[in-house]
Amino acid sequence: SKKLLVDVDSGVDDAQAIMLALGAPDVTVLGVTCVHGNTTVENVCRNTLRVLKACNQLEIPVFKGADKPILGNMLDPGHFHGQDGLGDAPDPNAPGLDLLQKENAVSAMIRIVNENPGEVSLVATAPLTNLALAVRMDPSLPSKLRGLYIMGGNTESRGNTSVCGEFNFTADPEAAYIVLNEYQCPTYLACWEFTCHNKLSWEFCDTWLAQDSHKARFMSQIFQHSIEAAKTERFQKECVAGAGFISCDSYAMAAALDDSFIIESDCYPVSVELTGTHTRGMMVVDTVGFLKKTHKAFIMKKVDLERFKQMMMAALK
Ligand code: BDR
Ligand code: CA
Repeated sequence: SKKLLVDVDSGVDDAQAIMLALGAPDVTVLGVTCVHGNTTVENVCRNTLRVLKACNQLEIPVFKGADKPILGNMLDPGHFHGQDGLGDAPDPNAPGLDLLQKENAVSAMIRIVNENPGEVSLVATAPLTNLALAVRMDPSLPSKLRGLYIMGGNTESRGNTSVCGEFNFTADPEAAYIVLNEYQCPTYLACWEFTCHNKLSWEFCDTWLAQDSHKARFMSQIFQHSIEAAKTERFQKECVAGAGFISCDSYAMAAALDDSFIIESDCYPVSVELTGTHTRGMMVVDTVGFLKKTHKAFIMKKVDLERFKQMMMAALK
């Protein structure tokens, strides 16, 4: 069975990605590590525990990681995912933070990968602070991964957080830089514009949420807030025109779960802009070879959307 480690900033689409993994056959989630991003790291931990509870999988260990980026302060995440990061639909019976593991997320990441050398697929759907800290503590970590699947970055310099910046990379540009330069393992990127070009329709959304299950009812509650936000004019500008919703983080997860999910990708060295008036946090794609880097990332271009829909449906069964 596939072994997964998931680094999240839950986040409604992070919740969807986690549920995709939990609904997939033959997958073991070895742990979920939390980081700042869509909300504070404490809220991220709380939200992640809520997702695991909704799926009856509270036995999966959850670890708290970095509460801010390598440099500076936590980026204001805006309200796309609600104030609490999970659609502002609180559950009075939500599990408490006492269920968190005592071990720090970064230590746990290093331990789990070293206990399963060559076997772990690391799925990162959040600012990359934990991953950057982990490679500083254990430089051999990337060579022991089966693969790294990231939602983040952009390819057409379209931002959703700044003029040219995608949220996960802009929330910690130094971490994104470290990870893209130092994780020399098979690396797969679900970038912002790619997710925009692969929206799922609102009709599918209705069918998806209408399933008669506890998981579907949970998702309907936490997703309402982002559904409203996604229909605003402001968001339509951000996400390249065309109706539908984007479960950004689920594309990275789907690629990790199914080796035939990616039909076509571009393969280039990539890096991140660290300075610049409008471009800090922007991903740069070295199509010519100026950077003289040997390691190349697979940038998703075309994926199996029918398979994606099946996985999404199964996630809420
Ligand atoms: C990314 O930013 C977050 O808001 C989402 O969870 C996703 O990981 C999209 O840019
Ligand atoms: Ca996320």
